[in-house]
Amino acid sequence: MTDSVLADAHVLVVGGTGTLGGAIAGHVLSAGARVTITSRSAESAERAAAAYEGDVTGVGFDVTDHDTVDTLLAAGPFDHAVVTAAVNAFEGLSEITADELDTMIAVKLKGVMWTARHLRPRMDEKGSMTFVSGMMSRRPGGAAPVSAVSAAVEALAPALAQEWAPLRVNVISPGGIGSTGAGSHAGAPGDVAALVTATMANRWINGTVLDIHGG
Ligand SMILES: NC(=O)c1ccc[n+]([C@@H]2O[C@H](COP(=O)([O-])OP(=O)(O)OC[C@H]3O[C@@H](n4cnc5c(N)ncnc54)[C@H](OP(=O)(O)O)[C@@H]3O)[C@@H](O)[C@H]2O)c1
Repeated sequence: MTDSVLADAHVLVVGGTGTLGGAIAGHVLSAGARVTITSRSAESAERAAAAYEGDVTGVGFDVTDHDTVDTLLAAGPFDHAVVTAAVNAFEGLSEITADELDTMIAVKLKGVMWTARHLRPRMDEKGSMTFVSGMMSRRPGGAAPVSAVSAAVEALAPALAQEWAPLRVNVISPGGIGSTGAGSHAGAPGDVAALVTATMANRWINGTVLDIHGG
């Protein structure tokens, strides 16, 4: 198992209070990592961190507010970082409001990019960054804006892996949690968390988008 690579590694989960972020934090913790999780609210992050057994710290960090980044960077350096922070809107382009579109882009696209840029100097260059998009990037579901934003997040993996080499950069593109795809297993947050953990641990996975949706 490559998971042993994560023993004693410091893993940052931006959006660690969320569905996928929480599962990822639990998974990397079981693989032996030390974990820092974030939420927009320091109180929520600390409360979520206290629910784990093991070395987990909670930090307040808003991906749209650069003034809050110093606290996050002070928690580093990090071996691996995964950014799951997002606010999505699943309306079509004719229905979405300007505020919803602005927020989705500000958090899920610009927020990911600025977080990555701030983090870069605090990352071990033998480590990795992982972002999360969504299968609607290439399998649209009647909501063009979220498809476009997810596709843009996916474009970051090959481009940043080249720009910031040797740091590895990957994107995980999941289907909807609870859906089976063409298979028989209903996807769970733990399935995505296992793939994120493998992506951190396996040093030959780089510059790529990994789909996980049951087919
Ligand atoms: N769950 C799914 O079925 C699914 C499927 C495909 C793709 N995805 C993608 O996977 C990613 C994570 O999904 P999820 O289901 O885990 O989402 P979630 O449960 O809604 O969690 C979102 C996380 O983002 C954080 N967040 C929101 N705005 C933020 C901001 N401005 N700054 C910092 N943190 C912020 C939230 O923290 P606080 O609220 O505590 O601040 C929370 O931890 C998203 O990109 C989503 O599109 C999810």
